[in-house]
Amino acid sequence: MKKNLSWPHYKLPWADPLVPDYRRVSTGRWKCEPTPAGSKIMGYFRPHNYAPSGWMFTQKVDNNWLKWMSLTPMELESHMPHIAAARGTVVVAGLGMGFYLYNIIRSPKVTRVIVLEKDKAVVNLWKHAINPVQWEGFRKVELVIGDALTYKPGFPVDFLYADIWPYLGAYEALGITQKLQANIQAKEVGFWGQEFDLLSWVMRQKRSGPADKHFTLTNYNTFCEEVGLPLVERQRPRYPKLAFVAVTLQTAISEQVKKDDSAILIAQALAVLQSDLVIDIAVKADE
Ligand SMILES: C[S@@+](CC[C@H](N)C(=O)[O-])C[C@H]1O[C@@H](n2cnc3c(N)ncnc32)[C@H](O)[C@@H]1O
Repeated sequence: MKKNLSWPHYKLPWADPLVPDYRRVSTGRWKCEPTPAGSKIMGYFRPHNYAPSGWMFTQKVDNNWLKWMSLTPMELESHMPHIAAARGTVVVAGLGMGFYLYNIIRSPKVTRVIVLEKDKAVVNLWKHAINPVQWEGFRKVELVIGDALTYKPGFPVDFLYADIWPYLGAYEALGITQKLQANIQAKEVGFWGQEFDLLSWVMRQKRSGPADKHFTLTNYNTFCEEVGLPLVERQRPRYPKLAFVAVTLQTAISEQVKKDDSAILIAQALAVLQSDLVIDIAVKADE
């Protein structure tokens, strides 16, 4: 008899994010639409047996509707360490669907949020797809329309979150974040998909042995120093392990990877996820 495998529930060290109540709307060449629920879905840091339906923003290009942004388990989870890190005065580069914003402005740790967005059509769709003015903490928000790369605050910034590229692990992400930080000088910084830049850095070190062994807190801190960014999670030993899991799982589900290789990568990621739970228990026992 064939049995369906089910994944265990892996608990992450950050709170689960909240998803705002969007509605189906279309403004010119842009639309906000629901995405279907699914089973056996890969998140960013862990697999899921079930994912509820979500939302996406699409744009009509020629005669096709292209998905620009969506709220899948991967998108939600990949923002988790950055949501947890937001505090004080925050600069957010890239409004998108406003999901990140929604999650940080309700936090009492966050006092002021400057959102940099260059595309008025995105802002327009966002305002129609949801009523952001009613969001808890919306009074903290200042929206600046323009190119984030030219923004220079005249006040100290506690946290910068950058997400202004369309693809996870985009080659340009690190360089863009370094440019933003040169102007913004935030005390702490996070950027979407930064785990892929850690992977590239680890690979460039050409150290021997299994790759996951090099995803240590010491190496992560050296990476942060070398790229000149005070990145999130520099104190948590679990984070580099979870970063390894994320890049391995995302590589496993990439269309370029063959089915057999994909299964091996998933097995490697799950093995680290299992030992990551053990690390957590050990840390708790020491406390
Ligand atoms: C992937 S979305 C961000 C998603 C967002 N994190 C969320 O929670 O929904 C990227 C956004 O960055 C904006 N963007 C791209 N380049 C930009 C730039 N140079 N300056 C400001 N915004 C930019 C895009 O218009 C888009 O709205």
